[in-house]
Amino acid sequence: MPRILSGMRPTGSLHIGHLSVIQNWVALQAQYESYFAIADWHALTTGYADALDLPALRREIALDWLSVGIDPEQSAVFIQSHVLEHAELHLLFSMFTPLSWLERVPTYKDQIQQLGQEGKDISTYGFLGYPLLQAADILIYKADAVPVGEDQIPHVELTREVARRFNYMYEPVFPEPKALIGKVPLLPGVDGRKMSKSYNNAISLAASPEEIWTRVQQMITDPARLRKDDPGHPEVCIVHKFHEIYTPEIEEVRENCRGGKIGCVACKKNLAANLDKLLAPIRERRLYWADGKRVDKVLQEGAEKARVTAQETMKEVRQAMGV
Ligand code: TRP
Ligand code: SF4
Repeated sequence: MPRILSGMRPTGSLHIGHLSVIQNWVALQAQYESYFAIADWHALTTGYADALDLPALRREIALDWLSVGIDPEQSAVFIQSHVLEHAELHLLFSMFTPLSWLERVPTYKDQIQQLGQEGKDISTYGFLGYPLLQAADILIYKADAVPVGEDQIPHVELTREVARRFNYMYEPVFPEPKALIGKVPLLPGVDGRKMSKSYNNAISLAASPEEIWTRVQQMITDPARLRKDDPGHPEVCIVHKFHEIYTPEIEEVRENCRGGKIGCVACKKNLAANLDKLLAPIRERRLYWADGKRVDKVLQEGAEKARVTAQETMKEVRQAMGV
């Protein structure tokens, strides 16, 4: 079976904006030997100065993944720092990776600037190496493909370059993995800004029906509609943006809005019902996994499985490099 590896940083509970990437993993896990890493070292590269509660954050993201339908019978779900071989491979890669390759990764300078404005100094050695550590995550499993969102393409590209250089300089150990980009709908937060936990405008994957309704009520609608029979303009309405993604009968929504045939409250109720259909099975699975011992067991077994593959690769790497 071909292999995939993907990962996320544990930085807080996930929201529906993250859902399509994880659903993509769920769809792939039957066709690929799958590895899903909770990238806690990557979280430290930017969060080293915060008091990150990594043990809680790691368990939280594992619970989110499992609730969406990652199946530990099929996939190895594990914590990056539990497989120390990633760090060794990162170190060995650092010997022959030109600095310029890392400095020109588009996220590098942007992030230093952006996080600098938020008062975080990430002009560190660790942050420069962020994409190289990611290359080690991927290549140590000889992954054929990496299912990620579009923002990660430059990192997969660097991974391919590192693989190529290694294979050329030493021995042909690594396949060149390709990015598998699923369709990720661009989802605004309920206030129209980017959906983010820190803006308090996100719909959590764990949201109850009441929490979903609270969020949907906060969505900004067409300000021109004062009365129920005023004709509306769905293009300017956040509720409509969500209907576009989650409501199959989108034409009907538009017609009812434009024709003044439905009030905004009723239109929001329909959306909330559809969101609840999406999240109900996730909430259900979360109940099963709420027993923390089950999650810990998954993570332990996942690391054991990952370690076997990682150790096999490291034997070849050490031999190729003469260490
Ligand atoms: N950089 C990824 C992100 O921010 C997380 C990540 C770490 C990752 N290691 C990975 C993604 C390996 C794919 C493969 O989302
Ligand atoms: Fe938005 Fe629906 Fe109101 Fe139209 S009817 S403005 S789509 S909430």
